[in-house]
Amino acid sequence: MTLVAPSLLAADFLHLEKDVEMLNQYADIIHLDIMDGVFVPNISFGFPVVEAVARMSRKPLDVHLMIVNPEKYVERFAKLGAAYISFHYEAARENAEEVIGQIQALGVKAGIVINPDCPVQAIFPLLPKVDFVLIMSVFAGFGGQKFIPESLDRVRAVRAQLDKLGRRDIPVEIDGGVGISNAADIVRAGAEILVAGSAVFKSGNPQHTIETLRNA
Ligand code: DX5
Ligand code: ZN
Repeated sequence: MTLVAPSLLAADFLHLEKDVEMLNQYADIIHLDIMDGVFVPNISFGFPVVEAVARMSRKPLDVHLMIVNPEKYVERFAKLGAAYISFHYEAARENAEEVIGQIQALGVKAGIVINPDCPVQAIFPLLPKVDFVLIMSVFAGFGGQKFIPESLDRVRAVRAQLDKLGRRDIPVEIDGGVGISNAADIVRAGAEILVAGSAVFKSGNPQHTIETLRNA
């Protein structure tokens, strides 16, 4: 089953209530991009916005941390009601396994994320531990970038390794440049959670876009 996780980064921040209500009706998951201006050259939004979204959201919140020292902040996001928290392998490396354990101990699903230039094999030792894997199909930091086609092979490789470990239930999520034109290929490669920012919010008909992505 494919789940669609629209990224709020592309929403209209003057009318977040309207956009979150739309996601409550049509999305499977709400994806929240947290950027610190250090791990990535951009700053998005922080706790007050997540807290406000959490207050009215009826869908699971998926917090994608693009920050250094993720271990310092996972507890606050968990307390705000995150159902999924992912952090970048590049931002944790030696303590990645510890951070996964920390997230899980808070009762939240833990995901590891890799940028397009990180070999997928780097995270293979973590696959027995994670609850999901997020493959970036653009470099983390900005919405509206173009999907990197090599990402399909990366999804296949991670999917195959998870299957080999008997972890068929662990989903692969993909993020960056996902839209109606490439969703079928992405799903065929083995991704089960599709993050889409621009494709959903810049479309004239977000409901239709979400449904089309889900059925790709
Ligand atoms: C990029 C973010 C993405 C972004 C996706 O760093 O992680 O979630 O919002 O935006 P689109 O779908 O426009 O590429
Ligand atoms: Zn994201």
